[in-house]
Amino acid sequence: MPALPPCNSVSSVVNFPEKSIFAGSFLDRAARFGVQFGRMDTILILDFGSQTTQLIARRLRDMGAYTEIAPGDADLSRAFPSGLGAAGIKGIILSGSPESVYDEGAAPDRAVYDCGLPLLGICYGLQRMTADMGGAVEALPAREYGRIGVSMPPPGSRRPVSEAGERFLAGFPAGDFAAWMSHGDTITKLAPGFAQVGTSASGFPAVVAHESRPWVGLQFHPEVTHCEGGPEILGAFAFGACLCEGGWTMRRYVDESRDALRARVGEKPVLLLISGGVDSTVAGALLLSVLPRDQVRLLYVDTGLMRKGETENVRAALEKLGAAHLRVALCEDEFLSALSGLSDPEEKRKAIGDLFIKIQEREVALMGLPADCFLAQGTLYTDLIESGKGVGKKARLIKSHHNVASPLVEAKRRAGLIIEPLDRLYKDEARALGRLLGVGEEVVGRHPFPGPGLAVRVPGEVTKERCDVLREADAIYMEELKRRKTAGGRSLYDDIWQAFAVLLPVRSVGVAGDLRKYGWVLALRAVASADGMSADAYPFEARDLLEISARITNEVPEIGRVVYDISSKPPATIEWE
Ligand code: XMP
Repeated sequence: MPALPPCNSVSSVVNFPEKSIFAGSFLDRAARFGVQFGRMDTILILDFGSQTTQLIARRLRDMGAYTEIAPGDADLSRAFPSGLGAAGIKGIILSGSPESVYDEGAAPDRAVYDCGLPLLGICYGLQRMTADMGGAVEALPAREYGRIGVSMPPPGSRRPVSEAGERFLAGFPAGDFAAWMSHGDTITKLAPGFAQVGTSASGFPAVVAHESRPWVGLQFHPEVTHCEGGPEILGAFAFGACLCEGGWTMRRYVDESRDALRARVGEKPVLLLISGGVDSTVAGALLLSVLPRDQVRLLYVDTGLMRKGETENVRAALEKLGAAHLRVALCEDEFLSALSGLSDPEEKRKAIGDLFIKIQEREVALMGLPADCFLAQGTLYTDLIESGKGVGKKARLIKSHHNVASPLVEAKRRAGLIIEPLDRLYKDEARALGRLLGVGEEVVGRHPFPGPGLAVRVPGEVTKERCDVLREADAIYMEELKRRKTAGGRSLYDDIWQAFAVLLPVRSVGVAGDLRKYGWVLALRAVASADGMSADAYPFEARDLLEISARITNEVPEIGRVVYDISSKPPATIEWE
């Protein structure tokens, strides 16, 4: 795991937004889809900007506790006029932050302290509770960072705390343990009513709990894998302190979606644009499993910039899932002529995007759908963050080049006719849902593929010949990655976050028999990454690369030379254009 950026560091800049009521996030979604809070016990995570907020949510969901993230300063009183408990919220976690509570650090709504629900403050979250309740937080002379020992008092040798606090503490490792810390501030005076339970190796409060209220806090990060007993500690908060029911499963998600989607769309047709990737295919699988199949209308545009066999695979996968109305538009010629003569990456992207919109409108019109049909999208929970729509809007990861909004999407959004049936799911959950619904492993486990397809993997001008050569070479590369195994027995393909080949607009000298030959240069790319935001070149065994290279040059005569791209991101990007 990459090193955590330090918390409470003055150098990090976070623009805290004005006080918000998080319209556009999960509340808005609840209203739009009729997913009622109260059906599912929820742990609400208030995000103050820590890089690990998402990890807290993921860890709890993996254990079956449903989580939602909202901005740390969300106006909860307005968002939940009937109270947080009435909305199914069983407990609240206050996340870490790069800010300091005595500086610009944002504060939660007072409702957090008045609602009577269990609270867990993590790092900044604990310091926030301490400062808000009358304690003191100051800068440490030397920051605590990395693995730090925490000592817990032997059973029976400390003051009792609240009942919820006792249930929480029962989940801790017995005796001392190694926690993971990253903070430049510490509590120098506990707020009235709080007791120090655990102490860090440097002598500062590491675990605190209130004597009468269900409030607990940790100076360390239980969500980070290096923290000993971390999942148990988080689980002890959700299931112990909050008595959360823990029924979050993909089976339940399907059941809830069935009711919510049927109620929302009634008998109207639902149009879904299929890209062939995981998200749109799983969204299609979900629609097909919860709505009558005649209601689900699918459109797939083959741009001619797809990988080998992709269109046939998409068709077969969707038919296996029961698709009765799949329109496949074969548009290779149109895209290649739009790209003819273009070599600037941005011009290529724009030409593809503009044509895609035109074709989309034309094809949708040909499908003869009523004007008020719904449009479904495979938006995931993390996409709501990346497009800045408001779930935990402190996260600043914005991919501007993705999913350009088309007039069709905009019109449907304005008319309130968009449904995003995966928008409560993380990518791993979408994959699990896909498996449950019978989506094949070749789709569910597929590496990401950019919207502009092979056009960004053929630097310079895109021609049919170049795409065909690249398709052949890429298919061999993928086949080899799926066949070859790591020492642990996993396929290299599954071990790699994303791999592909790039056909360089360069010819180099080689020999074929006794003759001089000019062949194209092919670059292989493979990266290890958690989210595509940063990446390292995959550390192949040399033998794998040598054998893959030999197979490509043997079987694709146009290619004379194979190189491996060893750049990390940053400074390089994953794609070459
Ligand atoms: P970069 O190249 O920016 O890629 O490091 C990060 C991730 O995004 C994918 N990517 C795209 N996806 N449209 C897309 O839908 C695009 O224009 C695009 N460009 C890059 C890339 O494959 C990687 O997974």
